[in-house]
Amino acid sequence: MSVTGTTRQKMPADILAMKGGAPIVCLTAYTTPIAKLVDSHCDLVLVGDSVGMVLHGLPSTLGVTMEMMILHGQAVARGLSNALMVIDMPFGSYEESPAQAFRNASRLMAETGAGAVKLEGGAHMAETIAFLTARGIPVQAHIGLTPQSVNTLGGYKVQGRGDSRARLVKDAKAVADAGAFSVVLEKVPQGLADEITAMVAIPTVGIGAGAGCDGQVLVVDDMLGLFTDFKPKFVKRFGQLGQEAEAAVADYAAEVRDRSFPAAEHSFADEVKK
Ligand code: KIV
Repeated sequence: MSVTGTTRQKMPADILAMKGGAPIVCLTAYTTPIAKLVDSHCDLVLVGDSVGMVLHGLPSTLGVTMEMMILHGQAVARGLSNALMVIDMPFGSYEESPAQAFRNASRLMAETGAGAVKLEGGAHMAETIAFLTARGIPVQAHIGLTPQSVNTLGGYKVQGRGDSRARLVKDAKAVADAGAFSVVLEKVPQGLADEITAMVAIPTVGIGAGAGCDGQVLVVDDMLGLFTDFKPKFVKRFGQLGQEAEAAVADYAAEVRDRSFPAAEHSFADEVKK
């Protein structure tokens, strides 16, 4: 039984129905054990292309491939029975045309079992979002700071201040009108996120967008304290698992070196006693 009270896995329509109600809880996952850990606590689990930076040590999400997303998506799907699984479309897999987006989104869903895809972009992706949703592919949009566009944005900066405020409002309206079932707002000032949340009929899921969004998402390795290369301002570390893991590894190394591990209880006798 899940903590959210349903017995079947959530679908995009369930997330859509949460608009304006209890906050939608989302985390990323990239592996089966983490998917199992977060499943009953989350409404939506995202197989984010952040996997490239978090698990593969890439400098950005630009090097993430369809094959990486499929492999991690398959692993996550094995650990979920409650939360909706959304999978990121990697850079270069959807921007060229709606047909290219459909080809890759349908492959991601067919080969992983994801219930929806996420893609980055606002008004300029509206045609693609409409094309996909009309053909059976639920889409979560992602606007504000879109990490796949880091090179044109000039860094991982807060979006929607000054002149770009009106553009972000337009983006939110465009993706909602195109049929997205939800929209991620990343690194957007709180007041603007609140305005967008009040304006669109689909749930907003914030990451660095304040508490007024319809839901929140974090990268699971960030909030567990497992990824410590850097910490964005919007991340709260709810655990320090990286430190704990390193201490455990140091204990193991010390015990191997002083031969206190393995002890008798971890070893096998030559003869089994009758
Ligand atoms: O890739 C990812 O993990 C994401 C979330 C941070 C929203 O897009």
